[in-house]
Amino acid sequence: MMTAVKDILRTMDYGLAPESDEHARAWLAAHGAGFGHFIAGAFTPAERLFDVFNPARGERLARVSQGTQADVAAAVAAARKALKSWSALSGDARARWLYALARHIQKRERLLAVLESLDNGKPIRESRDIDVPLVARHFYHHAGWASLIADEFPALKPVGVCGQIIPWNFPLLMLAWKIAPALAAGNTVVLKPAELTPLTALAFAEICVEVGLPPGVVNIVTGDGATGAALVENADVDKIAFTGSTEVGRAIRQATAGADKKLSLELGGKSPFVVFEDSDLDSAVEGVVDAIWFNQGQVCCAGSRLLVAESIAERMYAKLRARMEKLRIGDPLDKSIDVGAIVAPIQLERIKRLVEAGEREGAKIWRAPGPLPERGCFYPPTLATEVEPASILAREEVFGPVLAAMTFRTPDEAIALANNTRYGLAASVWTENVNRAFEVAAKIKAGVVWINSTNLFDAASGFGGYRESGFGREGGREGLTEYLVAPAAATKPAKAVKAPLSALPGRAPAPDGDAIDRTAKLYVGGKQARPDSGSCYAALDPEGKVVGLAGLGGRKDVRNAVEAAAKASAWGAATAHNRAQVLYYLAENLESRSEEFAARLVAQTGVAVREARAEVETAVRRAFYYAGFADKYDGAAHATKTRFVTLAMNEPWGVMGIVCPDEAPLIGFVSLVFPAIAMGNSVVVVPSASHPLSATDFYSLLDTSDVPAGVVNIVTGEAAALAKALAEHDGVDAVWCVGPRELAKTVEAASAANLKATWTRLPPRDWADEQGRDYLRRATQVKNIWTPYGE
Ligand code: NAI
Repeated sequence: MMTAVKDILRTMDYGLAPESDEHARAWLAAHGAGFGHFIAGAFTPAERLFDVFNPARGERLARVSQGTQADVAAAVAAARKALKSWSALSGDARARWLYALARHIQKRERLLAVLESLDNGKPIRESRDIDVPLVARHFYHHAGWASLIADEFPALKPVGVCGQIIPWNFPLLMLAWKIAPALAAGNTVVLKPAELTPLTALAFAEICVEVGLPPGVVNIVTGDGATGAALVENADVDKIAFTGSTEVGRAIRQATAGADKKLSLELGGKSPFVVFEDSDLDSAVEGVVDAIWFNQGQVCCAGSRLLVAESIAERMYAKLRARMEKLRIGDPLDKSIDVGAIVAPIQLERIKRLVEAGEREGAKIWRAPGPLPERGCFYPPTLATEVEPASILAREEVFGPVLAAMTFRTPDEAIALANNTRYGLAASVWTENVNRAFEVAAKIKAGVVWINSTNLFDAASGFGGYRESGFGREGGREGLTEYLVAPAAATKPAKAVKAPLSALPGRAPAPDGDAIDRTAKLYVGGKQARPDSGSCYAALDPEGKVVGLAGLGGRKDVRNAVEAAAKASAWGAATAHNRAQVLYYLAENLESRSEEFAARLVAQTGVAVREARAEVETAVRRAFYYAGFADKYDGAAHATKTRFVTLAMNEPWGVMGIVCPDEAPLIGFVSLVFPAIAMGNSVVVVPSASHPLSATDFYSLLDTSDVPAGVVNIVTGEAAALAKALAEHDGVDAVWCVGPRELAKTVEAASAANLKATWTRLPPRDWADEQGRDYLRRATQVKNIWTPYGE
């Protein structure tokens, strides 16, 4: 019997509004024999097939090949072969290909959206209105970049062959985030989609054929984690870009340590959604719907921790429950559905397990009462209240439609709770007070902050995390630099004047003549400090004569120095003008003692006086350069969505570890330390082990130049041991390390524990070369703050 209009008006119920899947089913049927990999512009025969399911109905959709090491190697070889001509194309020529891809994606948007919803279980409303339009937007945006790169990044070149590994939550969108910038910058790629959701990537491969993209520029190898691992381990891959779990991100950091591969990681999150007393509560409730029930909460930046002012908590929970009762859960292809299916039974089990564990710990669980479909992977929208900050639901990424709520009393408490996580991907801040909104946005450690909004994305804005949410950005100018590198220096790197390090840590031989008059100590917290070992070592000239004694620092000294650096955090909050003045003063003081520093270089390295003077001159010039930049390397206002201003703020890492090159003892030190402190970091520096005295001579300069205590800490000693201690230390946010590959390996492997950013592939360079913004960029991480305007 047909429902009468008056009945519909009374209940205001939705009828069924199914999107037709006929076209997608026909496409799948045409590939009924199974999919091969897409290598060198063609599909390989389907082999070692595994099933791909539709999670909403539990039925098999397709069969896909499990990629072997040999498949990966073939794809990498194809990408390598294509690299030369692809990277040699003009930017405009590459732009045309990217425009063609964007247009063909739009032409096929219906197939892609339906296929995505079938494969992943996400509501068609989202795949049709959010995922696929953003995919096209990414290709268009990066087509523009392809034309502009030569002008905008004249000093950089493509990285080479990029291995890209993506997860199942936004299969096609993550492909676009990876492939579009890589291709624009002149790289070629091998992409491995997630084993649960490979279908839209294969449809994209067909689009590559359709537009006639040169073979090998894009290669797609399907398979599980083992296929991903084969890509990571392939020696001919120049860069790995990964999005997925923090656990696998850490394994990839370990596996690539010392492999000379560029790496970007976009990992998990436990993002706070902070609601102040004065916020527009109804908007905030709608915000929560987008924050945690969008894509069933399977979103790395999902606002999964609701932090709400105690005074309004009960009101907010009541409104939320009322809203949750209205959420419609069901067939993803129904256009009126709000919440679709969880991606796979294994993920459903994980969600159930975590919620049960939370309940056992005392959280109060409330599940939306609406009916769930009888078959398929569904989980109701869930609100957990009375969650303790230490409980599993507050700590672990659930990756499901589960909101963990906590209360706070003061803004400071809200910020402390927001930052009480090892992650730092995103945050949402709700208040009608603009001053408070920006204060909180500035203090939350996260790569993206949405003010009175949530889960907004655009190709022009960078996206990526702080802390264990990974490093590197995707999108816009920030993301593009991940796919570019500085070419090897045209000039030969300065020759290392190697003094025998075997003198470490033995008893110091007697100093020769009056070349030295004292043992240099360490410099920690603005004071000279004895090394914990109580030992020193001899710095020798090329003839083996002792030119001075330096402290033999160790792990304990690194700990003290990191503590002192952390205490100096006010430096990062000081005005850039203030930092610039201090750096000018330091540069002036260095200049006034040029002769002394030149003499020290001659004594340590045996260079001619003329060369030593030139090195000091360059060091002085560079010091002024970075002093000048202290208040000029500023951020941007990205052009993203209408009625939003997206502020890209360059923020200092916090505490940085810096391991200087063994050669070029003065210019190496200045080139690394000055950009880092200019941007507001405090640093723990390991100077040249062979020639430490140019750095220890800085103590008196630091004392007399108003550099606050703890901003620059210097620990002399054996580079490998000190670098390892820095890389392992939880309080160090980023490490730069110049040295041989073995040292890079040590640092990168040790950094995996807290996933700190490392920079060990500093371009081989003549330290006297002009350098520039790259060092400033590396001394900062970008936070994008999205602010709405208008009523
Ligand atoms: P995952 O991190 O295992 O998978 C992501 C991608 O990495 C897939 O393509 C997978 O095949 C590949 N992979 C797995 N092991 C690999 C290895 N050793 N080397 C190279 N590639 C490898 O994530 P999974 O298992 O699908 O989901 C587990 C949990 O991870 C989720 O419950 C969620 O909490 C989190 N997750 C977070 C994502 C994010 O974007 N932040 C995305 C997906 C999952």
